[in-house]
Amino acid sequence: MGDMRNSLSQQAAIQICLAAIACCAVRAEDTLTPPPVTEYKGREIAQTMHYLGAPWLTRDSREREEDCKTMLAALHVKPGDVVCDLGCGNGFYTLKLAKLAGDKGKVVAVDIQREMLELLKDRAAEEKITNIEPVLGTTTDPKLPANSIDLMLLVDVYHEFSNPEEMLAAIRKSLKPGGRVALAEFRGEDPNVPIKPLHKMSKAQIMKEFPPNGFKLVEQFDKLPWQHLMFFERDDTPHSASGESTNPAPNP
Ligand SMILES: C[S@@+](CC[C@H](N)C(=O)[O-])C[C@H]1O[C@@H](n2cnc3c(N)ncnc32)[C@H](O)[C@@H]1O
Repeated sequence: MGDMRNSLSQQAAIQICLAAIACCAVRAEDTLTPPPVTEYKGREIAQTMHYLGAPWLTRDSREREEDCKTMLAALHVKPGDVVCDLGCGNGFYTLKLAKLAGDKGKVVAVDIQREMLELLKDRAAEEKITNIEPVLGTTTDPKLPANSIDLMLLVDVYHEFSNPEEMLAAIRKSLKPGGRVALAEFRGEDPNVPIKPLHKMSKAQIMKEFPPNGFKLVEQFDKLPWQHLMFFERDDTPHSASGESTNPAPNP
């Protein structure tokens, strides 16, 4: 009887130890995920657009208001390209990009809301588009393999990143040599753009954030009615992560 009690209490002790180890492991994992920030380099970070608002992304007036055809043409996507639509939402651009990338290329469509990806999948199925790879990312990690992306498109999403530095580092790693980031943001310096200030960005602010995170500005497309469209590539010069930059000044 006594032996049995001893072995039971030994088992209980082992169970408590295992539970404590599991608890510590979870805590260690928590500390590995950096907390979200609410402000970055003087800019207040916007809330994530909820999936219930997705119909706004495919509204009839969008083409006219944002001249999406012109933006798409400015991206110069070629058949065979691997494009990432990061923060794809319900796939307004994903579907169009998939047609441009063709059978030999694909679009990796990343979002942090599973519901957005489900809406995207339904739209792709309706149009019988098969070269889209949906990926559920996290606020710190778009889950992209290194050296895999020719063009990274960020439309109206960067200003929502709650962990801009982690996301920029992951984006940087995911680009193939010569790969580009195309950043589209509503113009913060233009009072005629009818979007809430928190969801807009100025060129000056973009330049405060991208070059110190290892990107150089390589092109600007200034012909969209509401948005900036700025192209960045990896800047691998040693000073690039320190905040110094050889970037050209952005066009006003
Ligand atoms: C305003 S919507 C834009 C959607 C799409 N780019 C478009 O123009 O139609 C922003 C989307 O970015 C997603 N998002 C926000 N933070 C993200 C992150 N860190 N990684 C991936 N997606 C993110 C949101 O869930 C939302 O679907």
